[in-house]
Amino acid sequence: MVAALEKPGTSNASPEQGDGTGPRHVAVIMDGNGRWAQMRGRPRLFGHHAGARRVREIVEACPPNGVKYLTIFAFSTENWKRTQVEVSGLMKLFQRYITKEARALADAGVRVRFIGDRVRLNNKLIELMDNLELITSGNDKVHLTIALNYGGRDEVARATKRLAQDVASGKLDPETVDEETLPKYLDTYVLPDPDLVIRTSGEARISNFLLWQSAYSEYEFIDTLWPDFTAQEFGELTAKYGTKDRRFGGVKV
Ligand code: FPP
Repeated sequence: MVAALEKPGTSNASPEQGDGTGPRHVAVIMDGNGRWAQMRGRPRLFGHHAGARRVREIVEACPPNGVKYLTIFAFSTENWKRTQVEVSGLMKLFQRYITKEARALADAGVRVRFIGDRVRLNNKLIELMDNLELITSGNDKVHLTIALNYGGRDEVARATKRLAQDVASGKLDPETVDEETLPKYLDTYVLPDPDLVIRTSGEARISNFLLWQSAYSEYEFIDTLWPDFTAQEFGELTAKYGTKDRRFGGVKV
């Protein structure tokens, strides 16, 4: 059975990080790279490279806005349907990004994790991902999770398979299965659920991102294309979140 890991607490108050009313965990669907490049008459990969350069600014914007966890959707289980040129260009970009940014992320106190299914990724990329997770494993300033070959349905299917294996081997009593059980098998089992999910580029859909985890998240669909998204806009969205009345299905008393 999956080790019963403590979920990080739910308190958001921290003296040096925000005022405690902002989102603790923000997840981002970084959409619009292709259109951004097209508008400039450039190939789609040009937009992905510009998108990758945005990531650092948003990671740096987390502490001043009280955001401890940032999860970004870099490549979905459906993105393999894109042209071979785009897919292999993206894979090379991920390798390059990790190689180039590893030291800076480690030194900035960022803990990096990857979620998604690694089976289709090449060995070199997996090695770089493992190494980045390892060298940042002692960090706690910002927890950056990169979803790579990630799909919410795929994640739930993989989790269910492992849960079923534990039932079959007698490690898990099916009578004890409740809604606290499945999350322990998800890729995100050490992360709190996202409070806020942002999608850039004007599309209002969740595209298979964190399906289980975002059951009660607030959503912001904004028109900005990802390569134009700034720390300022990130700050405005996290501040706006602080004005929301989240009831989790209950009523205000
Ligand atoms: C969606 O835009 C974006 C992606 C499928 C790739 C996301 C990747 C990055 C932002 C860069 C790399 C990230 C890291 C962590 C290094 P789209 O191509 O669907 O845009 P479109 O809707 O305008 O076509």
